[in-house]
Amino acid sequence: MQASTKRALGAYYTPAPLVAEALAGLPPLPEGAQVVDLACGDGAWLAEAQTRWPQAQLLGMDIDEPAVERAARRLPEAELLVADGLSHPLDSVDLIVGNPPWGIGRGKRVRRGEESATRFLLRALEVLRPGGRLCLLLPAAWLEVGAHREARDFLLHHAAIERLEYFGDVFPGVLAPAALLVARREPDARLRSSQWVATAAGRVQQAQLSGDPERALNPRLGARDRALIAKLEGRAHRLAGRVTFILGVVTGKNAAALTEGESGEPIISGRDVSAYRIGSPARRLVLPLDELQQAAPASAYRRVKVVYRFISTHPVAAVDEDGRLTLNSANAFAVDDAGLEPHYLAAVLNSTAARFWHVSRHSLPRVLKTHLERLPLPPARARDMATIAALAKEKGPAAAEELDDRIFRLYALTPGERTHARSRWLRS
Ligand SMILES: C[S@@+](CC[C@H](N)C(=O)[O-])C[C@H]1O[C@@H](n2cnc3c(N)ncnc32)[C@H](O)[C@@H]1O
Repeated sequence: MQASTKRALGAYYTPAPLVAEALAGLPPLPEGAQVVDLACGDGAWLAEAQTRWPQAQLLGMDIDEPAVERAARRLPEAELLVADGLSHPLDSVDLIVGNPPWGIGRGKRVRRGEESATRFLLRALEVLRPGGRLCLLLPAAWLEVGAHREARDFLLHHAAIERLEYFGDVFPGVLAPAALLVARREPDARLRSSQWVATAAGRVQQAQLSGDPERALNPRLGARDRALIAKLEGRAHRLAGRVTFILGVVTGKNAAALTEGESGEPIISGRDVSAYRIGSPARRLVLPLDELQQAAPASAYRRVKVVYRFISTHPVAAVDEDGRLTLNSANAFAVDDAGLEPHYLAAVLNSTAARFWHVSRHSLPRVLKTHLERLPLPPARARDMATIAALAKEKGPAAAEELDDRIFRLYALTPGERTHARSRWLRS
């Protein structure tokens, strides 16, 4: 299959050991139970299902005819169809398995802009009988990215989640971590919220798993992580509405717009930013802002601001006092609230407590505006803020440990909680 066709179909087949791991732990199926793969490819999931439940009726479909032919040769007793998994008539299915296509706009009926994995998940919930299960491999990002909040909400309102596991990068050459979702269609709201969800970090009840405002379903958190997050968030205040985010410049043509030579204006990139310090920018911008793909008005950059790395698992921040431009790998915010000091905020962002929170809440290596808007800031008196700001400004990285301790104290973390936050962050 050509790479472009493969991409268009989302045809990344699941390695057999992974399929076996996914189906392990599902309960026995009654004789004649119907097992369906809505996007079966060459039949890896159905082959494993046949080994596991020889008495089940297997049905697979895919829009890729050669793949269906291969599946039919592999599984002579199964029913295999060249059909659209999103519209083929189905009813009262016992179990839906598989790895649906991921990405925007895939699948015949998928509207442009919509995640196809979402469509297949919703379709599975629609055709399962009450009590029937789905066992699907999804993009890990689906579990937490804001764009899929509504679909997660729908899932939580119609199904009891039985297993949620982060599988990581399982497709060779594809940087898109996967997660496994096993859920039972469950009409009873009480059974849904009291459902125990198995995760690698231990069991957690569905009500607790879904307590997050974004309905992020985070399978990586253990009970101690959850307790610590609840404590950090408990008495916190937030940045939202108190700072102005400044979009970094997107040139659209880096080769023409940037130079490492002497001409043009210095522009801060992510790699110039370390905790508390901005190194002398390695690159300069040689084109005017209005010729670039995206840039804030020049005045937005010409002020004191907190600059942070955009591509990072955790916040890394420093204060720019010189009003310099920033590239989009280094985003920034200016502080509007006179009660908050930029150096103090940089210290909070660089603290182990905030980094623990970020890596626990977000698995993708991105520090987004929405993450920082929600990051819990500790309650602090003006005097404490001023001391921390002065220390951060004067000594910066040399005082990192002292700053970290002071911020731990503001969050009122115990020594055990500090050790846990540190080791969790370092492990991430
Ligand atoms: C990620 S592959 C998974 C294949 C197989 N389930 C596996 O795990 O080995 C996704 C499959 O979805 C198929 N596909 C895409 N859109 C579809 C649709 N609307 N209906 C059925 N299959 C579709 C592709 O042809 C591709 O075989």
